[in-house]
Amino acid sequence: MDITKIREKFKSLYGTTGDVYTSPGRINLIGEHTDYNGGFVLPGAIDKAMYCEIKPNGTDKVRAFALDLNESAEFGLEEADKPAQQWACYIFGVCREMAKRGKKVQGFDTVFSGDVPLGAGMSSSAALESCFGYALNEIYRLGFERFEIALIGQATEHNYVGVMCGIMDQFASCCGKEGNLMRLDCRSLEYAYVPFNPKGYRLVLINTCVTHNLAGGEYNKRRQSCERVVAEIAKTHPEVKLLRDANLDMLKEVKSKVDPVDYMRAEFVVEEIQRLLDACAAMEKDDYETVGKLMYGTHEGLSKKYEVSCPELDFLNDQAKACGVSGSRVMGGGFGGCTINLVKSELYDNFVKTATEAYKKQFNIDPKVYDVVIKDGARKLA
Ligand code: GLA
Repeated sequence: MDITKIREKFKSLYGTTGDVYTSPGRINLIGEHTDYNGGFVLPGAIDKAMYCEIKPNGTDKVRAFALDLNESAEFGLEEADKPAQQWACYIFGVCREMAKRGKKVQGFDTVFSGDVPLGAGMSSSAALESCFGYALNEIYRLGFERFEIALIGQATEHNYVGVMCGIMDQFASCCGKEGNLMRLDCRSLEYAYVPFNPKGYRLVLINTCVTHNLAGGEYNKRRQSCERVVAEIAKTHPEVKLLRDANLDMLKEVKSKVDPVDYMRAEFVVEEIQRLLDACAAMEKDDYETVGKLMYGTHEGLSKKYEVSCPELDFLNDQAKACGVSGSRVMGGGFGGCTINLVKSELYDNFVKTATEAYKKQFNIDPKVYDVVIKDGARKLA
């Protein structure tokens, strides 16, 4: 993205120049709604990101300008100073979470912008948190590790936005590495880089352009369902602290004791954790047809059992199947946003043309297409 506009606005608002930082959005190949259940995820940082120019201003106030919204906010750094706009709460929350960890952030001026589409399941909010987390850590030499910056972003969502998200998005944004996916164990927080170069295939996102707002509450309800099932299983299996620790037999034991909807949600999660492990094993053998089948399995589960899909996403998934795409599924939190598609290179053109035309005809919305490019995580630009 061209950062000239950020530079110009910063200069015109504050009469000086600052440093520019960036942090990206993410894709996730497989492993959805598993992170807050202690399972595995397989994300990668992408070439769409948030960018901020920033400079300490010697006061105890933050002056922020959101270039894409053409809105400004000014706020202090004490708990009572929480700003009204949600976008400003992401920045405020990061400052507060740093302060809670004993590291004091002072006032600063900033302008930010980005090209991660909002509400598209590509983690625009995590990119924003990680961008400011990384920038403030460097500017004030706070000494946080990248993973701690990710945890600060996650805590910001929990405490200042109200989304009880897992760690996947902030982790991917902070720790991403060009050309690599990351297999993160969300229980131990251990991770490994997995070089991703599926020869003969392309990875493409199609954005329904139906946006979600996870703050809407459905996301948190899914998490609560999982927690209720864990509480029931733990009565007879006290070692089970998360759905990751459970298996399908343990689930069956509590079937008559839990709400049927909660049961269905938990069943999806236990199956999804296994699907990710199966996909990793298939990737080691370069067997991307199996990876693709598992992705369709994820979509089916997210649509029918976890119920976080929507007609637009299901339609694109059907289009992928009809075009012979190897794997396709809703990506991210759901309720709108993108499908991620693993498609043989020779089928790519036909798929993109057919799916986007059919989608436009059906919903009268122009879907957006993004080729996936796996890039580095948070960094200083200039
Ligand atoms: C959102 C959350 C993540 C994760 C995904 C679903 O992106 O922020 O923590 O739970 O949904 O996999």
